[in-house]
Amino acid sequence: MTVAASGRRAVVTGAAGFIGSHLCERLVADGWRVLGVDSFTDSYARHDKEDNLLPVAGEPRFALLEADLVGDSWRSALRPGDVVFHLAAQPGVRGSFGASFARYARDNVVATQRVFEAAHEAGCRRVVWASSSSVYGEAPEYPCRESAPTRPRSPYGVTKRACEDLARVYGGKGVTLVGLRYFTVYGPRQRPDMALRRLCEAVLTRATFAVYGDGFQSRDFTFVTDACDATVRAGLVSDPEPVYNVGGGAEATLAQTVEIVERLAGARLDVARTAPVHGDVRRTAADTSAARRSLGWRPAVDLETGLAAELAWVRESTASRRVA
Ligand SMILES: NC(=O)c1ccc[n+]([C@@H]2O[C@H](COP(=O)([O-])OP(=O)(O)OC[C@H]3O[C@@H](n4cnc5c(N)ncnc54)[C@H](O)[C@@H]3O)[C@@H](O)[C@H]2O)c1
Repeated sequence: MTVAASGRRAVVTGAAGFIGSHLCERLVADGWRVLGVDSFTDSYARHDKEDNLLPVAGEPRFALLEADLVGDSWRSALRPGDVVFHLAAQPGVRGSFGASFARYARDNVVATQRVFEAAHEAGCRRVVWASSSSVYGEAPEYPCRESAPTRPRSPYGVTKRACEDLARVYGGKGVTLVGLRYFTVYGPRQRPDMALRRLCEAVLTRATFAVYGDGFQSRDFTFVTDACDATVRAGLVSDPEPVYNVGGGAEATLAQTVEIVERLAGARLDVARTAPVHGDVRRTAADTSAARRSLGWRPAVDLETGLAAELAWVRESTASRRVA
């Protein structure tokens, strides 16, 4: 479903990333003028991030600014009335322990505080920003509502929880802030550290797939175009809530995703069980009634269709890397 938005201007931070690049594509297709901002951190290969932007490269309504949100060089690019979609961050639960936490604190907490202040000072209309299901930790009941207690189990989740606190500080100062708690987003261009991407690569290259823990941990998987649809709606709807769960409703265990990918690829996987990851929760499942009611959003892509799309993309991008 297309949400009309002709003439609007969006600033998308993290534009070269997985979700950000799909969001830029969607906004341009809907008629927005889009400025993408990204510093191309070394969280994964720069050429992968450049490839993510190929679908919008050359679009007259898209421009890219390479800038670090923690610095000031990008702030003058904000205009009164802009909608800022703030997706830039250092994501990932596993890497957030140890010395690398400094980077999470910088690219998540400090960068988000800069974005909220800059948007306020420039007179932007709204900031829709990426929180995470990681703020919940182990929820007392499932599916969990936005009102459930937030008790993150990883340093990454703590940074997103801190951003939610920042949103409470800066919200209501002229600019509307809307946080989206994304639940495990997947699909083409998924980050290389994420389980479904590694799973697709392993089945196609006959490599061993490392399963952390017993494989029965489950996730509420959200296809990337569904996540983008909720994000665009959150940028447009009147009187939004301060925070929404964005979960695809496709809950599955890792073992079930292995079975689906094996069936789609027509090949068996060599699975190696390894120790559970510190900070990983046993289950995620979103109650999305607030997003359905207030944003008019509902996920459209089921897990099998979404995994087929991701597998096809991994196959194609692996083949083109071999040719290059
Ligand atoms: N992918 C998921 O399943 C998921 C789930 C929950 C929340 N999120 C959140 O959604 C957002 C997008 O995630 P993604 O998976 O697309 O990640 P990604 O790593 O692919 O994209 C993030 C982008 O932000 C950029 N960036 C980081 N720090 C920056 C800075 N200081 N200045 C400018 N650019 C910077 C990076 O270069 C990268 O291109 C993140 O905020 C993430 O925490 C993602």
